[in-house]
Amino acid sequence: MLDLLHTTKTHDETRQGEALDMVPTGASNGRKLYIESYGCQMNFSDSEIVASILIDKGFETTKEYKDADVVFINTCSIRENAEQRVRKRLKEFESAKAKNPGMIVGVLGCMAERLKAKFLEEEKLVDVVVGPDAYRDLPNLIEKVDDGNKAVNVLLSREETYADISPVRLNSNGVSAFISIMRGCDNMCSFCVVPFTRGRERSRDPQSIVQEAKDLFNAGYREVTLLGQNVDSYKHAPKVDESGEIVPTVNFAQLLEMVAQVDPLLRVRFSTSHPKDITDEVLHTMARYENICKYIHLPVQSGNSRILDIMNRTYDREWYMERVDAIRRIIPTCGISTDVITGFCTETEEEHQETLSMMEYVKYDFAYMFAYSERPGTLAAKRFEDDVPEEVKKRRLTEVVDLQRAHGLYRIENFVGKVHRVLIEGLSKRSDQDFCGRNDQNTMLVFPKDDRFKVGEYVNVLGESCTSATLIGRIID
Ligand code: SAH
Ligand code: SF4
Ligand code: F3S
Repeated sequence: MLDLLHTTKTHDETRQGEALDMVPTGASNGRKLYIESYGCQMNFSDSEIVASILIDKGFETTKEYKDADVVFINTCSIRENAEQRVRKRLKEFESAKAKNPGMIVGVLGCMAERLKAKFLEEEKLVDVVVGPDAYRDLPNLIEKVDDGNKAVNVLLSREETYADISPVRLNSNGVSAFISIMRGCDNMCSFCVVPFTRGRERSRDPQSIVQEAKDLFNAGYREVTLLGQNVDSYKHAPKVDESGEIVPTVNFAQLLEMVAQVDPLLRVRFSTSHPKDITDEVLHTMARYENICKYIHLPVQSGNSRILDIMNRTYDREWYMERVDAIRRIIPTCGISTDVITGFCTETEEEHQETLSMMEYVKYDFAYMFAYSERPGTLAAKRFEDDVPEEVKKRRLTEVVDLQRAHGLYRIENFVGKVHRVLIEGLSKRSDQDFCGRNDQNTMLVFPKDDRFKVGEYVNVLGESCTSATLIGRIID
């Protein structure tokens, strides 16, 4: 795992989550659900929708798969190792199922969508395969399995946003929550499987998003992260509301403003921004609202224009640099993080050097870095040969990781000696005598507990020293 502390991460397939014990509000059906999630934050967010749908039908959730009647694994296909991890985990479920033959094992999410009914042939213990747009059908699919059948629903939808389903907050600290604002992706980056597993892009009704943010605030939450594969292309078509009024088109900058206006004490974050789509309007909105965190995840993938072109990213090196310049100009304190892929098809040594020089230019606060992994069915798999040898990909990755380590340290050292507004998220993992929470730029701070303040409140913390990923400080008034 790269960094446990960056909870807004969107795509680290090593994350793993379980449902907390939760009981249905209506009549219990006496059955227990266990759900484990992999992949990006959208998947974690979907698991909360799945849990909500089944709790509504009387299921209780459990943290122990061995005690469960229904075991779900919400999967990721982004890289080959993400899929391998899921297969390994399924093997571990085998003995539990042998002891309890009535146990239903279901595969949800992106791998389910990619492999469809083939999954049932490949993994005999699996009873049900459900794609990301078919979760409303789960109660019905479980019934089919109860009747002795295997069940599959991998239909993708152009409309489904689960807007009316109020997610149950699993593994929550009671302070930060994620809100899905859109689904799918229309971008077709040549390396990426997401458009195939998540379908067409669609934006959720802005009113339902604002309502969810209000409900969270009223329940004590103080931070929301708006989620989408490309939040900058959020666009909700005009509609007529209940009173007959026409509600005009809402773009991402406007949505961000609507959510920021819920309450000045509600922090707003978002992920992921696409370099081709992030507008000055979004940047100015961020600058105008103190409660919109000054942090942008802006995946570069490569610093070389030819590689960006065959990746189908639709921007080049100069365009990306200009967007970074705009961020620095409009929001001087903004933290910037990124994703990098090393060893994409045909990448030369000089082209790789341009990725390193791009990193020097931006000096990212944080980065997720990957060696290219060919995914079946993608444009790159069809058009290009995966011709960079594995050891070269890995060596380039090591160079990228080493450079990022130096830049991360440079950024965090700059925070020492400064005062940070921090939302207290809970006790530090290392000591119950310390609080932890993040600053605007998403850097984690750890500082001694003070009885005058509690979790969910804001404090000013002076950064006094740091490790590579954490600032250590103390509360000042
Ligand atoms: N929507 C986001 C990315 C989602 S996938 C965006 O456009 O930036 C998260 C990250 O996984 C990508 O940014 C990319 O860096 C990485 N990734 C995606 N497909 C990959 C592949 N085939 N091999 C290696 N890394 C990949
Ligand atoms: Fe994949 Fe590109 Fe869409 Fe991101 S924008 S999810 S990388 S296709
Ligand atoms: Fe997310 Fe992985 Fe699917 S990154 S969208 S869960 S392929």
